Amino acid sequence: MEIPDMDDFRKIFLKYTKLAFKLLPNIDTPKILDVGCGTGVPTIELAGLSEGEIIGLDVDQKELEKFKEKLKELGLENRVKAVNTSFFQNNYSNESMDIIWAEGVFHIIGYKKSFRESYRLLKANGFLVMVDTLDRIESKFSGIEGRLDSLAKLGFKLYNQVNWIENAWWTEFYQPLEQMLKKLRDTKIDPMLYKHLTKHENEISMVKKNPKKFDCAHYILQKIKTKT
Ligand SMILES: C[S@@+](CC[C@H](N)C(=O)[O-])C[C@H]1O[C@@H](n2cnc3c(N)ncnc32)[C@H](O)[C@@H]1O
Repeated sequence: MEIPDMDDFRKIFLKYTKLAFKLLPNIDTPKILDVGCGTGVPTIELAGLSEGEIIGLDVDQKELEKFKEKLKELGLENRVKAVNTSFFQNNYSNESMDIIWAEGVFHIIGYKKSFRESYRLLKANGFLVMVDTLDRIESKFSGIEGRLDSLAKLGFKLYNQVNWIENAWWTEFYQPLEQMLKKLRDTKIDPMLYKHLTKHENEISMVKKNPKKFDCAHYILQKIKTKT
């Protein structure tokens, strides 16, 4: 039995990336910064959706190497860059980006700092598209009114939102992964590869217990002129 790459599982969520991108107004050759791009699964999708210049930025060199290999294979090296730098130590100029894309990153690196840096980098009326759990966003901003008020203070307004289907992390990602692991248990495979896959078992049981907690959305935020 062939061991699939985890990126193949990750790709199931690209349909939401696509939906979110299509809700943005048309921007000719946009400059897009994908923060915490990892192996570039959403970054490469963005390259297919736009004719723009795309920068994937991450601090994990191993992930970036994998990303660079894919860019080479796809012949995208001229238009898409994989850059090893922290979001908070980048050298990009003020107001140099049309779109900042951040899937599953801001809760790790800190919301306030991330919004501040996004605000600095975005052109006037530029877009910040971030993926987060509804649970985290609701508790952070205490409901839609609190959210809008807090967002304005950070210099953004909610432009649109793509809700993933309910329990998506379970039904679309971890349940198929669990089924695959079960099949692999009955097959003789390289123990190192098996170890690589079983490291996901904790995540599987965590999501299985309470899938709703992990429901996500793509939040499409637009930079507003002045922070309130
Ligand atoms: C949960 S992963 C998300 C990867 C990718 N966006 C995706 O959706 O498949 C979070 C990524 O953020 C990266 N990261 C952590 N701290 C960072 C920082 N200060 N600047 C940029 N990226 C960072 C991690 O290395 C990791 O690849």
